[in-house]
Amino acid sequence: MKLVFLGPPGAGKGTLAVKAVVLLTVPHISTGNIFRAAIAAKSELGLKVKAIIDAGKLVDDETTVALVKDALGREDARNGYILDGFPRTIFQAEALAGFSAVDNVINFDLPDASVLERLGGRRTCRTCGANFHILFGKPKQDGVWDSCGGELYIRDDDRKEAIAERLEVYREQTAPLIDYYRKKRLLVDVDAGPAPEQVLESFRKNFGV
Ligand code: AP5
Ligand code: MG
Repeated sequence: MKLVFLGPPGAGKGTLAVKAVVLLTVPHISTGNIFRAAIAAKSELGLKVKAIIDAGKLVDDETTVALVKDALGREDARNGYILDGFPRTIFQAEALAGFSAVDNVINFDLPDASVLERLGGRRTCRTCGANFHILFGKPKQDGVWDSCGGELYIRDDDRKEAIAERLEVYREQTAPLIDYYRKKRLLVDVDAGPAPEQVLESFRKNFGV
């Protein structure tokens, strides 16, 4: 199955994707994770995108499309994938249509107030990229992620000003994709407000997995 996860920052795309890829046995392709790994590795790509991401703006379409095209061309994506956070502009959606036919687009619906609450409490592991919310979990050792022992940190783009910018960018450049994919009859709306287990349950019902 070839799925796109579309939604505002903090809507729970990554949280659901991590579980859904296990059910579907497809790769989780998160452009945000790819960029953060490049930043951590201080690669050429990482140095190019760090300031853009920290400010909550979008990386340019050409760079982002090239990354995704490469990932979808790999063997593990032959039978499907979950694209988390891509496409984010009409340009990216048109480019994607040129090299892969998406089966469905999951539209995560969440009000701004919940976005602020969720991103304000997110802690991310510097080593493996996993994250959790401080309301729902507490590491056994302060500041250390239980699963891999990596350092927990607050993403630079989870600062208040960056969150406001990301929401603005989402409204202006990404939200138009809702209508774009609805017209193509590919959109599946999901209420992203309930607890993670319930969001997973409605995903399972929608896709029979
Ligand atoms: P990206 O990493 O994609 O960030 P985002 O889209 O802003 O989304 P987030 O990862 O912040 O949120 P999420 O929906 O995954 O929520 P999560 O599951 O973590 O992109 C980062 C940046 O990279 C962009 O700003 C841009 O600069 C660049 N970029 C990426 N893709 C690009 C593209 N295509 N084009 C150009 N630039 C691009 O959950 C959030 C929190 O809520 C967590 O703490 C979680 O535990 C909690 N939570 C999750 N689900 C629930 C629930 N159901 N109930 C309660 N809490 C929940
Ligand atoms: Mg994410």
